[in-house]
Amino acid sequence: MDVSDALRRRRMTRSFTGDPVGHDVLDALCHLALRAPTAGNARGIELLILDGPDEVATYFSATTDEAWRRRSSRFAGLSRAGAVVIVLADPTTYVDRYGAADKASSGLGEGPEAWPVPYWVGDAGAATMALLLACEEQDLGCCFLGAFRGVEQLLDALGAPARLLVYGAVLIGIPDGADHRSASLDRPGSTRAERIHHGRMARPAQD
Ligand SMILES: Cc1cc2nc3c(=O)[nH]c(=O)nc-3n(C[C@H](O)[C@H](O)[C@H](O)COP(=O)(O)O)c2cc1C
Repeated sequence: MDVSDALRRRRMTRSFTGDPVGHDVLDALCHLALRAPTAGNARGIELLILDGPDEVATYFSATTDEAWRRRSSRFAGLSRAGAVVIVLADPTTYVDRYGAADKASSGLGEGPEAWPVPYWVGDAGAATMALLLACEEQDLGCCFLGAFRGVEQLLDALGAPARLLVYGAVLIGIPDGADHRSASLDRPGSTRAERIHHGRMARPAQD
């Protein structure tokens, strides 16, 4: 499979069989994902692999509650992911890197608030996308889930320092074909062609 095929085929999978992915496969996927570039080669992105039902359950216990698990039509399928990879970013690594002599003139070594664009967020996204594509190449299902709830509990349960940003989680497993179609896919919105601009951005009439 080439990169174009992987990009065209990739879709989020939200229902898994419960079969394991395999330690070595997960490790290889994460090694590939960390080939994504990082600003200044700061390498402030870390991946934490939760492998197997007990570790996957740790992720769900920290980030969801009993009421959500009971009412969610998706929980059962998601919880059968063979593994979860937590994508973590360390802003201090970026601040330190940009405080070094060759980057100090940027002013970004002053602190995270000095960054007009927090590159650690973009780099976490790049590593995540690389991981999704690497899964696609292996015919594995995967789904990115955002981190809005239970972030502190999750970091604590994983023994990770509180300064880390939890960018999100990539669930990985064997698709069971019982996915519920995401309502997000049916929302009206601009086409890809409308989001590509040549030379100058076309403004809506009222501008
Ligand atoms: C930054 C980001 C956050 C997302 N968060 C969630 C999430 O919390 N739960 C979920 O089910 N899907 C989540 N998604 C998946 C999107 O809903 C999905 O990628 C989009 O609807 C397009 O579908 P596709 O990836 O299958 O093509 C997220 C995707 C991105 C890029």
